[in-house]
Amino acid sequence: MAGMLRLAMAFSVLLSLSLPSSHAQTGACGNYKFTSNKIFTSCSDLPYLNSFLHWTFEQSTGKLQMAYRHTGITTSNWVAWAINPNLNSESSAMLGAQSLVAFQQSNGTTRVYKSPISSYQTNLAEGNLNYVVSDLSAEYLNNDEMIIFATWTLPTNSTTILQVWQQGPVSSDSPSVHPTVAPNTNAKQTLNLLSGQTASSGGGGSRIRKKNIHGILNAVSWGVLMPFGAMVARYLKVFKSADPAWFYLHATCQTSAYVVGVAGWATGLKLGSDSTGIQYDTHRNIGITLFCLGTLQVFRHSSHPISTHG
Ligand code: HEM
Ligand SMILES: *[C@@H]1O[C@H](CO)[C@@H](O)[C@H](O)[C@H]1NC(C)=O
Ligand SMILES: *[C@@H]1O[C@H](CO)[C@@H](O)[C@H](O)[C@H]1NC(C)=O
Repeated sequence: MAGMLRLAMAFSVLLSLSLPSSHAQTGACGNYKFTSNKIFTSCSDLPYLNSFLHWTFEQSTGKLQMAYRHTGITTSNWVAWAINPNLNSESSAMLGAQSLVAFQQSNGTTRVYKSPISSYQTNLAEGNLNYVVSDLSAEYLNNDEMIIFATWTLPTNSTTILQVWQQGPVSSDSPSVHPTVAPNTNAKQTLNLLSGQTASSGGGGSRIRKKNIHGILNAVSWGVLMPFGAMVARYLKVFKSADPAWFYLHATCQTSAYVVGVAGWATGLKLGSDSTGIQYDTHRNIGITLFCLGTLQVFRHSSHPISTHG
């Protein structure tokens, strides 16, 4: 009976672990503290050009409060973050980009302004965007980093945007063309403002893949191998003819369950360390407890001589 209870517990724990987690904050952005004490609910490490997006989104009003951080730049760089209203234009995402541009002017002040882009020959002239943008400001920090703050009003119920970001050189206080090599031309991706999920031609899905591997490994270990091994011990033991085969089957199941479990645990740890932005506390604590119990169980068994199992 106790065995069945343990099984049932393991299954319910497994279920709770495989439930999707609500918010996706990944990477280094989550540790960032704004000097102005501004707080955003979500953030995303953008895959190119040392950039980070922090945001708070209210779907019912379409209000998107955001901060775009771009590190590793100098006083002679411009940076830009834009929304391209045409989700299908990822191959030419610069065209139609509703951009916010910022750079340091030669007199030391920071200029930040709006610029709609309609051609690859643009000089990023100031102009009105398709969206209402308010609270536009920028900060140049540590001689190395530009932050653009803004609040966008998006059409209500649009939860996915095509974001485009860029950096380029400034000469005589005006922006000129950015390099057109891979990191620059890849700097675009769709972003789901509610889930934080991203998609881009360049490597956005690796975290989701890791999550799936973590889930599958743990499901196989805790959900299949362990219970099967336990059942072997419980039900096959009674047949004299199955002795000592049941024990080897049992031991093999539990050992491979443990090995697979360790792999699942390791991918979980990696996921955890990749997602500094948010802590899945209950999930993590359950995982750690399960792992410790599993480890204890394995060591308890390995110190038993076979005969005590007969
Ligand atoms: C001085 C202003 C700019 C100039 C002169 C310029 C020029 C260009 C040129 C010539 C290309 C290559 C097109 C090709 O490969 O056929 C390009 C590509 C690109 N630019 Fe710009 N650009 C400027 C500003 C921006 C800004 C502000 C952004 C983002 C907000 C941006 C994002 C991109 C992207 C993502 C590509 C890759 C192709 C695409 O998806 O459209 N550019 N740009
Ligand atoms: C700096 O230069 C810009 C553009 O030339 C000008 O609009 C601004 O007023 C200047 N600021 C100061 C403090 O001189
Ligand atoms: C937005 O979605 C909600 C729920 O799906 C719906 O009730 C509402 O009418 C939608 N609003 C607009 C402007 O489409």
